[in-house]
Amino acid sequence: MARFAYVNGRYVLHDKATVHVEDRGYQFADGVYEVVPVVGRSMIDEDPHLDRLGRSLDELMIAMPVSRQVLKMIMRELVRRNRLVGGLVYMQITRGVAPRDHQFPAVAPPPALVMTTTAIDLAAQPKFRDGVKVITIPDIRWTRCDIKTVSLLPNCLGKQQAAEAGAYEAWQVDRDGYVTEGTSSNAWIVTDAGKLLTRELSIDILSGVTRRTIFAIAETEGLEYEERPFTVAEARSACEAFASSATSFVTPVVQVDDTMIGDGKPGPLALKLLDWYLDYCAGGRRDKHVGPWTAGEIEPLREIA
Ligand SMILES: Cc1ncc(COP(=O)(O)O)c(C=O)c1O
Repeated sequence: MARFAYVNGRYVLHDKATVHVEDRGYQFADGVYEVVPVVGRSMIDEDPHLDRLGRSLDELMIAMPVSRQVLKMIMRELVRRNRLVGGLVYMQITRGVAPRDHQFPAVAPPPALVMTTTAIDLAAQPKFRDGVKVITIPDIRWTRCDIKTVSLLPNCLGKQQAAEAGAYEAWQVDRDGYVTEGTSSNAWIVTDAGKLLTRELSIDILSGVTRRTIFAIAETEGLEYEERPFTVAEARSACEAFASSATSFVTPVVQVDDTMIGDGKPGPLALKLLDWYLDYCAGGRRDKHVGPWTAGEIEPLREIA
């Protein structure tokens, strides 16, 4: 367990870290979060994660409590105090503390900022080698899944259902039978022609930062990819499948419900992408990927909403 957490301007002992009972994050899930992976001592895709944090806040009309520069300083200081070498930085920003009332407070309270770290060797997870099972479940979430809100109850229910079925993840399925995404990851399949396939960005899914990095890698490597919805039947008959997220990187999927994918072993393309992604995290490829990684660039989703 990490020793320190950051809570509203102070580094406090993790097991003594508390927030106010009237915090709107606690009362209404009125807040957003981000997870930035740390490999060795490097934050991976830090700016794209902070771009998305800014966008989530904008969409909910919550002010950014500190500048990006200060946020980065806090992240580094917490990593330093917790002697984190490998793991993740979790940050959460809520609308702040106000007497419980659904509408926003007439005078905006200071937004509350909480940050914690978790130590994990993200680059060496057994599931990379073994692959994972996913189940499919109806997508019961709201219609703004592009916002990374702390309101995660449907995701928790889905993940629990997956765990009870001995699966790693639940792929959520829209009313038309198309996979949207996992409860905490984006969903991918590989077609017979070797093309990567994942759902296009919209209010139906979170714009995964890892998803974007995978596209950048695919472009560098000359892999074909397509952004479009795919059905559960397509997933079950795909030659490969995988999940992506800041903490699961590229995790091969070897079973969808009761159907084995390919020969039931992690697919070669998924493993190759994982290798390239690990190389990217280690710094080996980062300068090869120019363009998408400039601070301030976010997906043009605002027009969709
Ligand atoms: C619902 C959902 N989709 C996709 C992702 C993957 O996003 P990222 O690659 O930025 O971690 C996450 C990550 O938490 C998620 O919660």
